[in-house]
Amino acid sequence: MTVHRSLPHESGPLHVTGTARYVDDVPLPPGALHLAFGLSDRARARITAMDLDAVRAAPGVVAVLTAADLPGANDVSPSPVPEPMLAEGEVFFHGQPLFLVVAESHLAARKAARLGKVSYEDLPALLTIDDGLAVDSLIEPPVEYLRGAPEPAIAAAAHVIEGTMEIGGQEHFYLEGQAAHAVPGEGDEILVLSSTQHPSEIQHKVAHALHVPFNAVRVEMRRMGGGFGGKESQGNALAVSCAVAARLTGRPCAMRYDRDDDMVITGKRHPFQVRYRAGVAADGRLEGIVFEQFCNCGWSNDLSLPVADRAMLHADNAYFLPHVRITSHRVKTNLCSFTAFRGFGGPQGLVGIERVMDHIAASLRLDPLSVRQANLYDREGPRTVTPYHMVVEDNVAPELIADLAVRADYAERRAGIAAFNAESRVLKRGIALTPVKFGISFTLTHLNQAGALVHVYTDGSVHLNHGGTEMGQGLHTKVAQVAAGVFGLPLGAVRITATDTGKVPNTSATAASSGSDLNGMAVKAACDTIADRLRDFAAERWQIDRDAIRFEGGEVVIGAERLRFAELVEAAYMARVQLSATGYYATPKVQWDRRAGRGRPFYYFAYGAAVTEVAIDTLTGEYRILRADILHDVGASLNPAIDIGQIEGAYVQGAGWLTTEELVWDGQGRLRTHAPSTYKIPCASDRPQVFNVALWDGRNREETIHRSKAVGEPPFMLGVSALMAISDAIAACGDGSRYVALDAPATPERVLRAVDAQRGIAW
Ligand code: MTE
Ligand code: MOS
Repeated sequence: MTVHRSLPHESGPLHVTGTARYVDDVPLPPGALHLAFGLSDRARARITAMDLDAVRAAPGVVAVLTAADLPGANDVSPSPVPEPMLAEGEVFFHGQPLFLVVAESHLAARKAARLGKVSYEDLPALLTIDDGLAVDSLIEPPVEYLRGAPEPAIAAAAHVIEGTMEIGGQEHFYLEGQAAHAVPGEGDEILVLSSTQHPSEIQHKVAHALHVPFNAVRVEMRRMGGGFGGKESQGNALAVSCAVAARLTGRPCAMRYDRDDDMVITGKRHPFQVRYRAGVAADGRLEGIVFEQFCNCGWSNDLSLPVADRAMLHADNAYFLPHVRITSHRVKTNLCSFTAFRGFGGPQGLVGIERVMDHIAASLRLDPLSVRQANLYDREGPRTVTPYHMVVEDNVAPELIADLAVRADYAERRAGIAAFNAESRVLKRGIALTPVKFGISFTLTHLNQAGALVHVYTDGSVHLNHGGTEMGQGLHTKVAQVAAGVFGLPLGAVRITATDTGKVPNTSATAASSGSDLNGMAVKAACDTIADRLRDFAAERWQIDRDAIRFEGGEVVIGAERLRFAELVEAAYMARVQLSATGYYATPKVQWDRRAGRGRPFYYFAYGAAVTEVAIDTLTGEYRILRADILHDVGASLNPAIDIGQIEGAYVQGAGWLTTEELVWDGQGRLRTHAPSTYKIPCASDRPQVFNVALWDGRNREETIHRSKAVGEPPFMLGVSALMAISDAIAACGDGSRYVALDAPATPERVLRAVDAQRGIAW
C-alpha cells in the first residue's frame, strides 16, 4: 500500500538541493520585459493630476500604462464586486497601484516607477474598525445568526461576563513572493505562469482583461513557495499586468513584487474586534451568549464576505451555545484589502469563544480546562446543534481532550506551575489547553468539486494531473499516493505535472483545506476507470473472474499468474484498450443558505487540541514557549509525516499570529511593518523547546478519500493555546480579582503592560 504511509514529499530532493523551480526561476524567452507598479502614497484621495513624463523618459522604459490604457476590464476582483487593478481617479489605500511600468529589466522598471508625479486632493481616510463604524462604512449590511432567546437567558443567569477583544491581522510571509510570467502565442493565445492557488481564476481575469474567450488563455502552476491563502486572489494583478503588457508589446513579460512592495500592496489576515456578553451558571456552563464580530475588510470586497461568514461559523468552536446571537459587521476601511489566510476567518471567530472560556474561568475561579470541558458539544442528544442549526455528528473533542490532558500531564503541571509561580517573582509560568473544531468544505457549495486527468503510458508509467495546486503542503504527494495505490505501483512510477487549465478545467482554488479531499477523490475516480478497463481486458484474455485480478507491488496478479504492470498495459494497448481517463468528484451532503445562516455548510469537522506552557519575564514582557503537546485528528492519515509537518508548521504560524506578529499602520495609513526587520515572524529558535505532536487514532466517519481528514488549516488554531498560556502566566502576577483581558497579538509590550496592570502599576 502506498497510502497511509510516511513517504517523503515528492519535491523534497529538489527543495533541499535548490533545484525546485518556482515561477521566477523559469528562464524567460529572449526579449522579455519586466513590470513594476507605481504606488499611491495617500490612503484616501482624489487624483488631480498624474505626470508620468519622467517615468516614460527613464532608462529602459518601454511603456507606461494607466487605467485608461488598458484594452479590456480593469478588474482583478475575485468577487462579483469589481476591484480596479489600476486606480481610476481616486485612491483607497496607501500603496494602491496607480500605473504600470514596462521596462527592459526588473530594476529599470522599479526605478522608473518611483518617478511619477501625482497630485492629490486628500479625503478623510478610515483606518480602523472604529473609524469605519463611525460613518457606517460597510461592504454589506450586518449578518446575524440567531438560535433561541439569548438576552433573556443572559438576564436569568447566575453570572454575566462581558468584554471586547482586539485581534490583529497577519502578513502571509510566503517565502516566494507574488510572481507571474506571460508569453504571447499565435493569434490571441497566451500562456500565463502564475504563483497562484487559483489557476482558473487567473485564466478568467486574464481573458476579461484581454477581451478573449477563456480557451485562448492557458495558466500553468508547478508549485508555490507558500501561499497560505495569500495567493488565492492576490496574484491576479500580476498575471493580468503581464498578460496586458505582453499583448500590447508582443513580448514575454514578467512581474514579481519586491518583498516590501508585496507586504504593502497585498491583502493580509483580517483584523477583528469581538465583543461578547454571556450569561453563565455557577458550574461555568454557558446559558446564553451574544457575540458581535467586527471585521476590518480593507478597501475592497476581495474574499471578505466568505471570510466573515467563516468567522461566524466558528464562533462556537467546540462548544454548545444554548441561546446565541452572532452578528457580523463587515467594515470597509482605507487599508489594503484583507484576504484569505489559513483558517479563512475561522481563527478570529474561534479566538472569541476561547477568550470567553478563559474569562468565565477567571471570574468563577474555576480551572479553565474544566470550564471548557463542561461546555463542549455532547456526542449526542440536544446539546449537539450549532448556532447555524447543523448537528455535530462526528464529535471526538471530549475524548480527544481527555486523552491529551493525560498525555501532557496537564493537572500535575498546572500544580507544579502554581508552586513555581509562588516562589518566582520575575519569571512566571502559564499553561493552557485549547481545542479546535474546524468545518471542512467551501461554504460556497458549488466550489466543492474537482477534476483529474490520468494517462497510463505503455511502459507502465503514470502521468497524473488534477485541479489542485502544490504550495508545500504535500498535496501532490498525497494524490500520487492515491493513484499509485490504485495501480499497485511504487510512488516513483507516478508523475504529477504542473497544474494546467488546459488539462483540467473549471477548478476551484486550492483552499479551505480541501485539496486532497477533492482532488484525491477525482484522481481515484480516474484511476479506477482505467484499472477497471484493465481488469475487464485481463478477465477476458485470461478467462478469469474479475475479482481474481489484483494490482500490487508493481505487478498484476491474475489468478495463479503474475505479470509486470507494464506488460499488462502493453498488452491492453495492443488490444486497443483506452489507457487515459478523466475523473470527477463533488462533495455529497453539503448545502448552505448564507443569508439565513442555516444548512449543512460542512461535510465534516476536523478536531484537535494543544497544551502550551510558557514562561514570561515580568520585567521586560518577553516570553518563551517552553513546551507544546498536540493531539490532532486527521482521520486515517494519507501520509502521517506530511500531516505532522502541517500540524507543526500550523501551530507555529498560529502562535506567531497571536504573539509577535504585529502590523502597524501610522496615522496616514502607511504600513510601517513592511519588512522582516520590523515584522516579527517566528524563527526556528522560537518553536516550542519541547514539541510533542501525535495523531488521533481514528477514521473519518464520512466517506472521504481513504477515510482521511483535511489537515491544512485546522491546526493553525492550536496556536491559540500559546496566547491563553501567556494570559495565564500574567494572571499569576495578580490576586485573581481582575481578568487579564489580553488583546492579540500579545507582543512583549502588551504583556508588560498587562503584568503591570495586574500589579497595580500605572502606565
Ligand atoms: N502548507 C504549506 N507548506 N504552505 C502553504 O502555503 N497553505 C495552507 C495549508 N498548508 C499552506 C500549507 C492553507 S491556507 C490551505 S487552505 C491548505 O494548506 C491548502 O492545501 P490543501 O487543501 O491541500 O490542504
Ligand atoms: Mo487557505 S486560507 O483556504 O488558502
